[in-house]
Amino acid sequence: MICRILLLISLTSCVSGTFEVEVTQTSYQAEENHNITLEWMFTTKPDSSSTSLNIYCDMVTDNNEGSVLYHVHKGDEVPESQDKQFAGRVQSDTDALREGRIRLHVSRLRTNDSGLYTCEVYTDYGTNSDRCDLNVTAAVDQPEPQKPTESPQPESRVRISLFVGLTAAGLAVCAGLCFVFRLCYKSVKREHTVVYETENMDAAE
Ligand SMILES: *[C@@H]1O[C@H](CO)[C@@H](O)[C@H](O)[C@H]1NC(C)=O
Ligand SMILES: *[C@@H]1O[C@H](CO)[C@@H](O)[C@H](O)[C@H]1NC(C)=O
Repeated sequence: MICRILLLISLTSCVSGTFEVEVTQTSYQAEENHNITLEWMFTTKPDSSSTSLNIYCDMVTDNNEGSVLYHVHKGDEVPESQDKQFAGRVQSDTDALREGRIRLHVSRLRTNDSGLYTCEVYTDYGTNSDRCDLNVTAAVDQPEPQKPTESPQPESRVRISLFVGLTAAGLAVCAGLCFVFRLCYKSVKREHTVVYETENMDAAE
């Protein structure tokens, strides 16, 4: 009996003492124009009134003000308090909210959505918060800006090799011509000498 009472006391103190908010993922990676679902879990209590639930989900900015991503006031979503940066781009899952899950589907991501996101959850049985990182990288499938920097290199390389090739061919032709010319010249000269010598011999006889 004493044991049961102790167990009951420790259980109730456990439940009422720890209200937890936890991200399901501490860091997200996404590409520009893609979608992502950010998720937080928080402790629920069946007998607690839903009107005691208040949630503030913000993107933490440098000036410490934060842009509102999602706001729940006394159990109701307040879309008008959302920052214009996220207007029309955030869908929440209200069914998940009842189960203690904040699921925020952010669509058409921009690179400047990158940053730290935090959700603070206030209930009549506790308050807590947790944060996660989102990194949105620029889309990679845009080859236009890279083409002009890449193409001059192969072109100039082709030009250089063409120049080297033509010069080599020219030199080879030159050398060949010189060789042929020298051969011709030598044989002509020899013929001359032979003719001259035979003429001389004829004259002597
Ligand atoms: C992103 O979400 C929007 C609606 O929220 C949907 O129309 C679109 O198809 C989604 N795109 C991708 C790549 O999942
Ligand atoms: C973020 O980038 C979009 C365009 O991608 C621009 O319209 C918007 O003003 C930017 N927001 C901030 C806070 O710089």
